[in-house]
Amino acid sequence: MSETGKRVRALDLKEKKKRGEKIPVLTAYDATMARLLERAGIEVLLVGDSLGMVVLGHETTLPVTLEAMVHHTAAVSRGASRALVIADMPFLTFQVGVSEAVRNAGRLIQEGGAAAVKIEGGAAMLDVAQRLVDIGIPVMGHLGLLPQSVHQLGGYRRQATLERDAEKLIADARALEAAGVFAIVLESIPAEVARVATAALAIPTIGIGAGPHCDGQVLVSYDALGLYDGAVPPFVKQYAQLGEEIVAAAKTYAQEVRDGRFPAPEQLSARNALP
Ligand code: KIV
Repeated sequence: MSETGKRVRALDLKEKKKRGEKIPVLTAYDATMARLLERAGIEVLLVGDSLGMVVLGHETTLPVTLEAMVHHTAAVSRGASRALVIADMPFLTFQVGVSEAVRNAGRLIQEGGAAAVKIEGGAAMLDVAQRLVDIGIPVMGHLGLLPQSVHQLGGYRRQATLERDAEKLIADARALEAAGVFAIVLESIPAEVARVATAALAIPTIGIGAGPHCDGQVLVSYDALGLYDGAVPPFVKQYAQLGEEIVAAAKTYAQEVRDGRFPAPEQLSARNALP
């Protein structure tokens, strides 16, 4: 956790960038995972709207509702004692108008217990980002591949591969920084574009499929831990295969119940010994 044991704040991330300290971020959707990731020293937890795909069984993030995000953010906040909890603003909760965005971000902070929100988009979202920051809500930006724009983008494709798109991304990143965002996620862009953006900003960039030059990295925890059994993006490194461990453990349990080996007599006496 933070070296001082204090709660990590959005502004601490800029200090980490100044010190050249890389920032590992993982997504979390419930209290148990938040506690486990904190124990592993993860200081920044993103309640991503990837929730829709890896937990709720949707094909995209588009069906995720504000209610679902508030519910899961509140669970993560209960589990996290020191990590910075950032809640994604789901589709249509910040694009319709600034006052609606303020009300919805406010719910993620007030009811969800998040300390910051994340919004997808560049120039088109500046007024929203600016207003949220002005009223005291820390905002993380998100550029490059925007999963909420999957239909417009024609799929989950690498972005900013053409020079003019790369220039636009860097201009958007500068504009978001000027609007007051505290960090920017860069998703699925060439490493060189991420390098230039990272060098151009005083705030940290957090990459996902954006190469090694970003100030931090974020992965969807279910992908990185091998829990999600759907398609995993090629840039993901899987640090475990927990899905396979769950299948094996559940198989053993089922077999033991069928065979009458569980519960064993010692399990019964252990249970009877409980107060
Ligand atoms: O929803 C999410 O998990 C995200 C990360 C992939 C950055 O936005």
